[in-house]
Amino acid sequence: MKLITSIQEMRSFSSDAKKSGKSIAFVPTMGCLHGGHASLLKKGKELCDILVMSIFVNPIQFGPKEDYASYPRDLKRDLAIAEANKADVVFNPAAEAMYAQDFQTYIDVACLSKHLCGISRHAHFKGVATVVAKLFAIVQANIAIFGEKDYQQLLIIKAMVKDLNIDVDVVGMPIARELDGLAMSSRNNYLNNDERKAALCLHAALMKGKELFENNVKKPNIILQEMRNIIEAEPLAVVDYINVCDVNTLEDLDKIQDSALLALAVKIGKVRLIDNCILG
Ligand code: PAJ
Repeated sequence: MKLITSIQEMRSFSSDAKKSGKSIAFVPTMGCLHGGHASLLKKGKELCDILVMSIFVNPIQFGPKEDYASYPRDLKRDLAIAEANKADVVFNPAAEAMYAQDFQTYIDVACLSKHLCGISRHAHFKGVATVVAKLFAIVQANIAIFGEKDYQQLLIIKAMVKDLNIDVDVVGMPIARELDGLAMSSRNNYLNNDERKAALCLHAALMKGKELFENNVKKPNIILQEMRNIIEAEPLAVVDYINVCDVNTLEDLDKIQDSALLALAVKIGKVRLIDNCILG
């Protein structure tokens, strides 16, 4: 496995690989790797000849009061996991190389970014879309793999690729969960024992919503109230949002027809966690 830190070297590696007829799968990450990332790497290895993963904690997708400085970074551990999951290249650029002093170009996927996490995390998706566009331009992959854990992010990347005619196929992968149902996340590392137990309320609320839908409850208000009751019964949890929305536009639904996205963000102590589930 190769560790590349230079943008130019990454670009040359990909150009050479493609000239020699090899296909490239790309998994962008911010490191602190876990089973969710591993599932994306496994898929990438299945789909293409060469598997490239980036590890880059992207400063411009964190708000001023968010955890950019304290975001867990352990390159040595991540490289071992990348190697065990058969990555061919880990691309780990420096923030100064990605964002020069005079950096001034941003991508705003306007409508999709307004909903759900976009409400409390203001410039977050602008930062995500911008860095992913840059990574796509550098890595020049045939396929890029993202997790449905960040469902809104996945829709935003798909819209950006379509709108800007970027030549990459975006593939979504299901949410990897711990045995007790908690969605795997780098931020789970911040939870203490009590918070870890409390964090199960996110999955419990989603399961309740799913059960109601399967029992023919199609009114979002009823589903939302039942889900909220579960979260509010947990003293360490504070709801940021719980929504029943359209799976393509993320607009709130008045009535569920065939399908819907149940999405929620909840603060457990100081840690903000997100999770979701598709109905239908
Ligand atoms: P990060 O949070 O490291 O996630 C990298 C990829 O792993 C994303 O596509 C995310 O959806 C996926 N992922 C995370 N947890 C998962 C889980 N439990 N199951 C399945 N997939 C999971 O998302 C980002 O980084 C950044 O925003 C990034 C796209 C790299 C841009 O900076």
